[in-house]
Amino acid sequence: MNPEPASVACVRAPKHLAIVMDGNGRWAERRHRPRSFGHREGQKALRATVEYCLRRGIGSLTLFAFSSENWLRPADEVGALMQLFLKALDREVDELHGHGVRIEFIGDLSAFSTELRERMLRAMEKTRGNRALFANVAVNYGGRWDIANAARLAAAAIANGELADANLDEKSLAPFFALASQPPVDLFVRTGGEMRISNFLLWQLAYAELVFIDTLWPDVDAAVLDGCIEEFARRERRFGRTSAQVAITTGQEPT
Ligand code: FPP
Repeated sequence: MNPEPASVACVRAPKHLAIVMDGNGRWAERRHRPRSFGHREGQKALRATVEYCLRRGIGSLTLFAFSSENWLRPADEVGALMQLFLKALDREVDELHGHGVRIEFIGDLSAFSTELRERMLRAMEKTRGNRALFANVAVNYGGRWDIANAARLAAAAIANGELADANLDEKSLAPFFALASQPPVDLFVRTGGEMRISNFLLWQLAYAELVFIDTLWPDVDAAVLDGCIEEFARRERRFGRTSAQVAITTGQEPT
């Protein structure tokens, strides 16, 4: 792994980086290639991003790979993405495991083929003990689904007496959300020029810094990620406090 320039290495890095990897289709279309070619190239950027997080000591990386709305895309594109996921699971899991990466899939996995779902579950099981990096891949995921799912799980906990309904508040609901065991997302990046969240981590982004960049996802490399981290480091995170108060606190989300 390459050593980094000192200036970037010194910058405060986020603990949890979440990315909407947008722009694969446009990247391919500009080259007169099918959109699936862009998704394949996007996989290289994904790999570079995982390596970057390992190098920078970013503990959690959450990637939006397939939204609950992406099923509406043309059938051949959806099919190509499913094939890509299958191949990636075959090819990458052992190497990621070797680097101490813990793979988590978040979202409603029930919609996938049995083959794909079982491979996702196997990858999670195999890497469960790893600690170097949480690589969370959101598939058939939607932020509204996550909220509804948390409500459903909390209702079940109330029904079986594990949780009192009178005690239901932000703190008691939080453990039912995806990624609950990881630090809150502190940096959200969307590539590809659009400035929206697109039903990604609605609950988990409450205090995230949002960075939108024009770079198309397949063009993302360490230098682009450095730029996002530098932007993050320039932000003053107040969490509702005043600037003067922030100067004497740790800059952490209030608990
Ligand atoms: C958005 O670009 C990208 C996706 C819907 C798929 C993301 C998938 C990958 C990066 C492939 C690798 C993933 C794994 C987990 C192996 P877009 O198609 O919306 O691009 P556009 O906005 O230019 O049309």
